[in-house]
Amino acid sequence: MIDRTFEEYKALLDEHILDFIPDIDQKSITLYDSMKYSILAGGKRIRPVLLLAACEFCGGKAEEALPYACAMEYIHTYSLIHDDLPCMDDDELRRGQPTNHVIYGDAVATLAGDGLQAAAYEAMQRDMLLYFDNFDALKSRVRAAYEIVKGAGVTGMVAGQIADVEAENKRCSKELLDYIHITKTADMIISAVRAGARLGSCSEQELENLTVYAENLGLAFQVCDDILDVEGDEELLGKEVGHDEANSKATYPALYGLDESKRKLRELTDAAKDALAEYYDNAELFVELAEMLATRVS
Ligand code: IPE
Ligand code: IPE
Ligand code: MG
Ligand code: MG
Ligand code: MG
Repeated sequence: MIDRTFEEYKALLDEHILDFIPDIDQKSITLYDSMKYSILAGGKRIRPVLLLAACEFCGGKAEEALPYACAMEYIHTYSLIHDDLPCMDDDELRRGQPTNHVIYGDAVATLAGDGLQAAAYEAMQRDMLLYFDNFDALKSRVRAAYEIVKGAGVTGMVAGQIADVEAENKRCSKELLDYIHITKTADMIISAVRAGARLGSCSEQELENLTVYAENLGLAFQVCDDILDVEGDEELLGKEVGHDEANSKATYPALYGLDESKRKLRELTDAAKDALAEYYDNAELFVELAEMLATRVS
């Protein structure tokens, strides 16, 4: 049962966001500083909040899901640090601050990303070690971790990132564009929702409905991100705009135009909301989040 708001879940997450980064030796303190810099730079925390909310929606406790929610945000933040590197999208502003490599240099930024990814896996594995005498609790944790690792992995986000880089300056088919957007962005959002559902001991029906919600929300999220890169406000977004066109990226507006992209965003948002219609007020947070994201462009 969800009885907290998005802001309340975000506050819980923010309070614990550094808890699962291991104590780092003074000799590697730059690594810790650079990881912390990007983690604390801001960020909407959409993925971890989705995880915590899905957990409670399915009967679990958000506090127990924190290692997985923080792991999700560590992985997401690592993906952004690497995404911004000069050899990738070459961006200098992220979450309203200079990007990690602008402050620390390319080598440290690369390692900060590696460190956050490793810290994510360590956080989840350390939590699992606590449940060897409770098979049901262990099972849901192993399943949740698998959802996260899979979405972030070489058939998920990383696959999307390479397809995104390789599609630069090329003609991109509609099919390839959907593959890029689903893998690089939707897969991590699907992971967050499914991992939360697993931690809350979801029913098969709940898992199925939440998955359909997340598939639509995930694709909508990247379509929205593409639109905002064309007509968003740099100040509000905390990242530079106009870079997709400058980098000849494969995006929805580039392939379909702005109007059609907005129509698609509306269609995906409605499909996400419809997937949870049978839960009425119990799914309000998910429905409001989908609507809130879509209305960022109107
Ligand atoms: C940005 O994600 C990267 C994409 C997948 C589009 P967010 O828009 O969630 O970024 P933060 O975490 O709020 O900075
Ligand atoms: C990034 O997509 C997706 C990731 C896996 C990080 P973008 O390259 O469009 O994200 P932004 O616009 O830089 O946030
Ligand atoms: Mg990118
Ligand atoms: Mg980028
Ligand atoms: Mg973008």
